Amino acid sequence: MTSKSETERKLADAAWPYWEAEGEIAKRFYAHATPDDHAFYLRAQLWKELNPVDGYFNGLHRELVRLAEKFPLVDKEIDRHDYHFALTQLTEEFNHYVLLADIFEHIVARPIAADDTIQLPEEKKLGDLRRGYVESGDPITRAAVGFTEGGGAALFREGAKISGGDINDMTAHAMKVIYDDEKDHYVEMAKEAVGLIANDDDLTRMVDAIRAISAQRVWMRNEMFRDPMTRDEINRFIETNKR
Ligand SMILES: [Fe+2]
Ligand SMILES: [Fe+2]
Repeated sequence: MTSKSETERKLADAAWPYWEAEGEIAKRFYAHATPDDHAFYLRAQLWKELNPVDGYFNGLHRELVRLAEKFPLVDKEIDRHDYHFALTQLTEEFNHYVLLADIFEHIVARPIAADDTIQLPEEKKLGDLRRGYVESGDPITRAAVGFTEGGGAALFREGAKISGGDINDMTAHAMKVIYDDEKDHYVEMAKEAVGLIANDDDLTRMVDAIRAISAQRVWMRNEMFRDPMTRDEINRFIETNKR
């Protein structure tokens, strides 16, 4: 039996080329993005922040209500540390919405409206894929959905590096905050995923699900960033970055 850290490395290696592809897409986008391009991806990202890990969670509003209702179970059926992590994660996701909505309003020079946040088709496919894994009843593939949350934070890592002009500066600040939060989310989700793996069959099932979800995440990113890479370029990038 392999050690926990070895298992985690195997899971992260499976996701690696896809996570780096997300980073590459973001990098290419930010290098040439106009204010209109920024507004376009922000609409899609704002939807994602209000519906974090769609298919696993059911929208921020519903998840907050659900969590508040579970409060009486703390230290009875729910560990207080787990409860605190869930609370923190949801408030952090809401803060991501706040930070990015401020940038959006700065660009469009008017208050944000409900129909400014949009779910693009590839994001919808991602949600359907995740929902399938969550509803399959297999805790292994369900945990794979958690493991792939945030896509290794590669977009946020790249976004935090941009500068020059107020849109870029606001973006870099927001992306740094999101990067730090998503790294924490990853650590928790990875711990949960690794803890569930008891044998090689579990590992294979989880790796397969991680690859499938991560691949769909790449198409979702390319769409929201207005296709900075062709499908061929993306496929080649993933092949050459495999571990
Ligand atoms: Fe987020
Ligand atoms: Fe997150």
